[in-house]
Amino acid sequence: MVNFKAYREVDGAAAVELAKKCQQVSEETGACIAVCPPAVSLALVAASVDIPVLAQNVDPYAPGSATGWVTPSMVKACGAVGTLINHSEHKVGAETVAECVRMSLDCGLTAVVCADNVETAVSLAHCTPDFIAVEPPELIGGDVSVTTANPRIVESTVESVREVSRSVRVLCGAGVKTGKDVAAAIALGADGVLLASGVVKAKDQYAVLTDLVSSL
Ligand code: G3P
Repeated sequence: MVNFKAYREVDGAAAVELAKKCQQVSEETGACIAVCPPAVSLALVAASVDIPVLAQNVDPYAPGSATGWVTPSMVKACGAVGTLINHSEHKVGAETVAECVRMSLDCGLTAVVCADNVETAVSLAHCTPDFIAVEPPELIGGDVSVTTANPRIVESTVESVREVSRSVRVLCGAGVKTGKDVAAAIALGADGVLLASGVVKAKDQYAVLTDLVSSL
């Protein structure tokens, strides 16, 4: 799952170009690659590719008087299939997470809830989102993968979330940049990875994407 964040590299039409590279690598390799473009590019990206497109956030509002907020229903209507919730750079309280998960699932969106640590992951797993993504904030944007710096957080999150619900799948992220990192994540029990800078800021995004999925 490639989070485009708000990097300059994905401003405007560049978001579509990166999403198309993700689609190309997905088609060439059979790997499932999803993208999370900024809200302003969501509809355009969703209309341009066939791979899963997710929002970076939703707000817990129904359609109507909600100026400036991003509702689950508008995310669904523009062709996205899911959303991140509570990313480390866009945290909301536990009650808001629960409401966003509920409203997203009601709309038929895949809910990916982010957590900084095992304790938060377990607590938020009780909302039964589709995925919990564990990302230690201090490793986000860095060059050392969570799978190297803190493999235990991945294993513990997988074990602990499984005890809460076997239907909640686990992603890990922060510093993931190579196929080796992805292989390590899978070996630690994760169902996949959530990453950003390794792809978005790469000189050759296609080559990095190809390497990332090479062990799958
Ligand atoms: O959402 C993914 C993210 O927070 C991890 O970022 O740049 O460390 O892959 P990065």
